Amino acid sequence: MTRKILVTSALPYANGSIHLGHLVEYIQTDIWVRFQKMQGNTVHYVCADDTHGTPIMLRAEKEGITPEQLIDKVHKEHYADFSEFLVEFDNYYSTNSEENRVLSSNIYRALKANDKIATRTIEQYYDPVKNMFLPDRFIKGECPKCHAKDQYGDSCEVCGTTYSPTELINPYSAVSGAAPIRKETEHYFFKLSECEDFLKDWTRSGTLQAEAANKMGEWFESGLSDWDISRDAPYFGFEIPDAPGKYFYVWLDAPIGYMASFESLCSKIGLDFDEYWKKDSTTELYHFIGKDILYFHALFWPATLEYSGHRKPTQVFAHGFLTVNGEKMSKSRGTFITARSYLDHIKNPEYLRYYYAAKLNGSMEDIDLNLDDFVARVNSDLVGKYINIASRTAGFISKRFDGKLALLKANPVIDDLRNAADSIADSYVSRDYGRALREIMALADKANGYVAENAPWDMSKQESQSEALHQVCTAALEMFRLLTIYLKPVLPKLAEAIETFLNVKPLTWIDVKTSLPAGHSIQLYQHLITRIDPKHIEAMTEANKENLQSTNTAPAVEVVEETNYISIDDFAKVDLRIAKIVNAEHVEGAEKLLKLTLDIGEEKPRQVFAGIKSAYDPETLKGRLTVMVANLAPRKMKFGLSEGMVLAASDETGGPFILTPDAGAQPGMRVK
Ligand code: MSP
Ligand code: ZN
Repeated sequence: MTRKILVTSALPYANGSIHLGHLVEYIQTDIWVRFQKMQGNTVHYVCADDTHGTPIMLRAEKEGITPEQLIDKVHKEHYADFSEFLVEFDNYYSTNSEENRVLSSNIYRALKANDKIATRTIEQYYDPVKNMFLPDRFIKGECPKCHAKDQYGDSCEVCGTTYSPTELINPYSAVSGAAPIRKETEHYFFKLSECEDFLKDWTRSGTLQAEAANKMGEWFESGLSDWDISRDAPYFGFEIPDAPGKYFYVWLDAPIGYMASFESLCSKIGLDFDEYWKKDSTTELYHFIGKDILYFHALFWPATLEYSGHRKPTQVFAHGFLTVNGEKMSKSRGTFITARSYLDHIKNPEYLRYYYAAKLNGSMEDIDLNLDDFVARVNSDLVGKYINIASRTAGFISKRFDGKLALLKANPVIDDLRNAADSIADSYVSRDYGRALREIMALADKANGYVAENAPWDMSKQESQSEALHQVCTAALEMFRLLTIYLKPVLPKLAEAIETFLNVKPLTWIDVKTSLPAGHSIQLYQHLITRIDPKHIEAMTEANKENLQSTNTAPAVEVVEETNYISIDDFAKVDLRIAKIVNAEHVEGAEKLLKLTLDIGEEKPRQVFAGIKSAYDPETLKGRLTVMVANLAPRKMKFGLSEGMVLAASDETGGPFILTPDAGAQPGMRVK
């Protein structure tokens, strides 16, 4: 009996571009789905854009379009990105759909009928200028613990403390800048605190990875709080039934979006929705997610399903976060790379699919994309080991044997390759793609060893060796075919090209058991893959650094971080002073620098190295007044310590021109 399996990846937010971090998840899921389909199982892979919430509403407003227009535009972009990375959804939908509205309302009504909904009056920050309640991320202020300025309402990025926005000192709205007021409002809660026993049982039933189950243990220990599922208008989302002006919080309808996307698939291809979602369903349901959203998928979601009369997930698979070159993706280092930017520079998505697969092991550990290792690994494994087997042998079959294969004789290397099928399959099932690829590459090494040992290029020189040559090349191509089956979940497009070359139907797992018959014709071998050129990697990181400067082309990650404004507090951090240049001199060995001695009214004058040598004779500077940044962290340079910075104007047409205050300014005066 074939298994019926429904698989999801988390629904990406519709307010930003898909980046290489997201792709870890979609590639991980896609490989698993393709593998399961190759096994002959019935698999449906659905996803959607997560379209609701305040950030999307405000972003649309900023762009001068409606939220619907924004999510439409982003939907197209996301779908194109995924398709080009060969992530093959059976349906890619939107949470802002009629199916989702109906499902969300019905589920809410069922929860209410089960006495799992409560209303409570809470006090929340309200923007009196914008006339809206503010989510935590849209309130900023001073950290109550370390007093760092301009911290978000949920946690301090400087000292790491988490708190509630009401604890912030001097809070202000990130939307309007106004001081928020506290205002009472009635909210709807899902009584999660009553679901503890159910959730404990569910957790124990093998639905989670060990690490995730441990995390759940911690949450149980600190006790489950009821979950606030409503937001006040204005809000882009679904209005709650019989509660005018109240909307479902985005995280209520987002996972229901999995169901809605599946329902839309059902009507497209004629499946029975209830068979997959009814309480006692015998089908399987798997959610792939990142570790950051475990709380939603391991607590809220199963509880929502349970108390609305639906089946629960068979398993939730959480993965870790992507780092690039060992660090968090960063715009300044050029490692915040969008899917589109990768495609523009590197082009071939299968390199990244291969590399991620090699790094993934089914745990919640973070995975690192080391760009040097990426180039080395892909070039040596894919080009050097795998494709090499065909490129060294296929030509002989075409030239010498009219493109036809020999009758394959018993061959211990081929036996080894065939016998590895179950073990490789186990690795795919458990999402340990790293182990699968290690095993596959070890087999590729064996295949290459076989080719090297038999040296078909030598055999081809002697007519008497013709039959042996035919046999060796046939065997090598059979090895190549087997490796292609094993790699196909990871490299589907390359596999397709190889199917054309080998002149075979789309390969599935069962094809491991048979081999190509004697006399089977193959096509002329054509170049299948090229090496990655490290220059393209460099160009990509450079381009992503440039993106920073032109903010309109930079991908939008978060509305708040996208503004070009700094607060008055940010500006106040810069200590600008009038400085008198008491001495200026050339620096030996420095092409651009002058060494300045600056009096800013302090006991000891400051020493600053300034890149203004091209425009100034040091003698003319002595005695002049200028402006300096006095609280810049001192920087050790080759020539000595630089204790600040002087301000100068320049662009491609000229400069630098140092700034001079009007007459009357005195050294040490603050510039505000
Ligand atoms: N919209 C929610 C999910 C709702 S599911 C009902 C969301 N969206 S997201 O766009 O922020 O993230 C989508 C998925 O990508 C999440 O599973 C998240 O963990 C994953 N990743 C986002 N950034 C990532 C990395 N840097 N690294 C690895 N995965 C990352 O969360
Ligand atoms: Zn702090």
